[in-house]
Amino acid sequence: MTTQWRWWMLGVPTAVALENGLALTPPMGWMTWQRYRCNMDCDSDPSTCINEQLIKEMADRMAEDGWLEAGYRYVSIDDCWMTKERDAQGRQVADPKRFPSGMAALGDYIHGKGLKFATYGDIGAKTCQGFTGFQGHFEQDAQTFAEWKVDYLKVDGCFESPKDMARDYPAFGAALNQTGRPIVYSCSWPAYMPSHCEKSDHCMDSLVEHCNLWRNFDDVQDSWDSVKSIANFWRRRNASDEMVRAAGPGHWNDPDMLLVGDFGLSPSQEQTQFALWAIWAAPLFMSNNLRDIKQSSKEILLNREIIAVNQDLLGHQGFCVGGCDGDLRIWAKPLVGGETAAVLQNLQEGGDGENITLTMAMLPWKSRRIFKARDLFAQQDLGLFREELTLYVHVNSCRMVRLSDVIEMMV
Ligand SMILES: *[C@@H]1O[C@H](CO)[C@@H](O)[C@H](O)[C@H]1NC(C)=O
Ligand SMILES: *[C@@H]1O[C@H](CO)[C@@H](O)[C@H](O)[C@H]1NC(C)=O
Ligand SMILES: *[C@@H]1O[C@H](CO)[C@@H](O)[C@H](O)[C@H]1NC(C)=O
Repeated sequence: MTTQWRWWMLGVPTAVALENGLALTPPMGWMTWQRYRCNMDCDSDPSTCINEQLIKEMADRMAEDGWLEAGYRYVSIDDCWMTKERDAQGRQVADPKRFPSGMAALGDYIHGKGLKFATYGDIGAKTCQGFTGFQGHFEQDAQTFAEWKVDYLKVDGCFESPKDMARDYPAFGAALNQTGRPIVYSCSWPAYMPSHCEKSDHCMDSLVEHCNLWRNFDDVQDSWDSVKSIANFWRRRNASDEMVRAAGPGHWNDPDMLLVGDFGLSPSQEQTQFALWAIWAAPLFMSNNLRDIKQSSKEILLNREIIAVNQDLLGHQGFCVGGCDGDLRIWAKPLVGGETAAVLQNLQEGGDGENITLTMAMLPWKSRRIFKARDLFAQQDLGLFREELTLYVHVNSCRMVRLSDVIEMMV
């Protein structure tokens, strides 16, 4: 164990962190964007357009079907809830046709179900879809969201010069803070920077200081290719990587929404996306139709043992520890109490499968000789192992395990 590992494990922050007491574990919820986009045609598509009915129906499902109990508590309305012009007082307003009761009433409805109210805006002149942006109205808009009792705000970066983001994201965060209402602040800033806030951009420290989470990379699309490209962004980033180290309680990297329950992934690819997002300590936002979701998708999303890996209080982001350049990859995450979670992923596209071997020597944080392993998808104990664990993994699939110390188990 080198000195570097030791201070990393002790959780010494790399920068001053935002301390609003929020998002101490990765936030979980449901978000409109991936599945419902900017569909405003409620005449033709009454059940899939962005309106208050959609949001209320999803809130009902979240509260009644076990989602909230499992930890999914934020109901998030992404772009296209607002108008293209401000009102006479210069305030943002919800589209009166699609949100006739207004945002405050919708927030009350969501809160009435025991859920949290999340929504979206843009730091620039307009949102990505061309609606009112915050530029020139930071204090007023922050005040409006606080009055609406918003709990979580995703702030996009369209119609803004990337060179102004280092000034504007912290300034809007300060405006949110001054409202006195605790609001989780999600910044899309690095997704717009040439090196995603690393290296020459020099914004990683500022992100940790001013934001609770941030979108690092491309928007997720409903396809396996999209999931693979996001995983490729992460696969060579190890524990000494600035971006991996930036994650921790109150400040998280956000690889974007879950596709589980949508159309683009096979059941084993759905498992793989969920396993990776869990091991990365990523925010878990579904974007699916909770009114009509396959049982197999629901089981993946409600897997308590995998959610526990994601929500582990140590708050370390997992990373690739073996086979990172190839098709048989091993990802791992240290957990509270010296336990470890790992994902053994087979990216091959032909044949049946391969054995993948995780050795304790691959783990930088602890070297255990004998350990107990549990299969988190099968929810089965696999037994005791010495030095290494070999599992057979089908192509296009993964296995996820939790390793615990035998010695600790016997105490
Ligand atoms: C505002 O910032 C201060 C200083 O970091 C912090 O203690 C406080 O909790 C913040 N308040 C809100 C409402 O975010
Ligand atoms: C982490 O990645 C960096 C950059 O790719 C590399 O130089 C370093 O050796 C890696 N460290 C470990 C422990 O793999
Ligand atoms: C995988 O490992 C098991 C147990 O060691 C062995 O029986 C099996 O033949 C291996 N399969 C392949 C495809 O290597």
